[in-house]
Amino acid sequence: MAPGRYPAAAARLLLLSSCLPLASLLDSPRSALRTAVAPTSAFENVPLAPPDAIFHVAASHRADPDPSKINLGIGAYRDDNGSPWVLPVVRRAEKLILEDSSLDHEYLPIAGLKSFTDASVKLILGDSSPAILEKRFAANQTISGTGAVRLGAEFLARFHKSVVYISNPTWAVHRNIFSDSGFEVREYKYWNESTRGLDLESVLSTFQSAPEGSILVLHACAHNPTGVDPTLDQWKQISDVVKAKNHFVFFDCAYQGFASGDLDRDAQAVRYFVEEGHELFVAQSYAKNFGLYGERIGCLTVVAQSTEQAKNISSQLERITRSLISNPPTFGARIVSLVLNNPELYEQWKTELKSMADRIILMREQLYDALVKHETPGTWNHIVDQIGMFSFTGLNPTQCKLLTDKFHVYLASSGRISMAGLNSKNVQRFADAVDYVVRNA
Ligand SMILES: Cc1ncc(COP(=O)(O)O)c(C=O)c1O
Repeated sequence: MAPGRYPAAAARLLLLSSCLPLASLLDSPRSALRTAVAPTSAFENVPLAPPDAIFHVAASHRADPDPSKINLGIGAYRDDNGSPWVLPVVRRAEKLILEDSSLDHEYLPIAGLKSFTDASVKLILGDSSPAILEKRFAANQTISGTGAVRLGAEFLARFHKSVVYISNPTWAVHRNIFSDSGFEVREYKYWNESTRGLDLESVLSTFQSAPEGSILVLHACAHNPTGVDPTLDQWKQISDVVKAKNHFVFFDCAYQGFASGDLDRDAQAVRYFVEEGHELFVAQSYAKNFGLYGERIGCLTVVAQSTEQAKNISSQLERITRSLISNPPTFGARIVSLVLNNPELYEQWKTELKSMADRIILMREQLYDALVKHETPGTWNHIVDQIGMFSFTGLNPTQCKLLTDKFHVYLASSGRISMAGLNSKNVQRFADAVDYVVRNA
């Protein structure tokens, strides 16, 4: 609210009441009185923001009464009955927390729960990472993965202002985060429409011609929305260009373990870059791999060149966190910390994580088989070649619309589908619908 707004309105009211007899003010219809004294609105110039496309898809799905409707929009895991799944290991950890009378509701430190951030660093970098052994890392608990990207962006806006490159396509929020933090945001072409795979040539040539020291936002695994990741050999080529041009790499890691079912495999790109001596940021999310979507638990892990640098960076991350959220929330941090630091719970988590990844891989196979059996025009290998929560089907916006209008299938107009929305009861129906729209739209 603008300072002085009300004093100005009060002065106007005073002036008005001194000119008009009090009785006439009291007699006037209430609306006229309100109009006469209403201050200029602080919100006069606020336009309506466009709805978030994916949450809009979810709302349309909710509003559809058809019992056979399918939601392939939102990126949240569903079990084979189409229901949200609380991991049994998370239930165990919750119980331990509830029964622990030593826990209280005091503030966490600004950087978060240390047993959580320490474990988070090890999870992504690996126990024997040179960055850990040489004590040149920092970590700050964040409001899930989104908060980690935002915290990193805010830091870079202050200490490494440069051009930011995001992939085209990418997770819809990347652009807004970096532009809201004041960056010029450019794109690198990532998706090759004809091969339905990675456009490595474009990625490398864009990075090669980018201004020295640019910030490159890379998906550590399970690229959203395409589900296409570089191979290790392709990561090596990317690393070479990054080194040659002194770029800064910001990994976004929202799917560690969820992508392949193997925590180490999904961290291979980050670990390779650290071994190659790069400084970097990694935004970690525990939404998907722990199913802790609403608990908003994440971590910004930083690899620096020296212990002293890491200490300075850490102090600045705390300073920024203090003004953004003050202190991070406890519950999700306690759950993840318990699981990552307890060998028995950790093993259980790995098994449950793999079961989520395996169910998604199975859905890919069943969808692929059904389309091949239908002899649906086009090639569909990308469905099984892609990895993680999403598949970029290659369906065009008209086909997507027909899927919704005729078959009650809800998905992004880009043709991205969340594989987690498919299950043994609806995958055949979805394949039949895809076959129809490909042939008719
Ligand atoms: C690439 C990517 N980054 C970050 C996120 C952040 O998710 P959250 O803030 O829920 O952890 C997501 C979630 O969909 C994602 O796909």
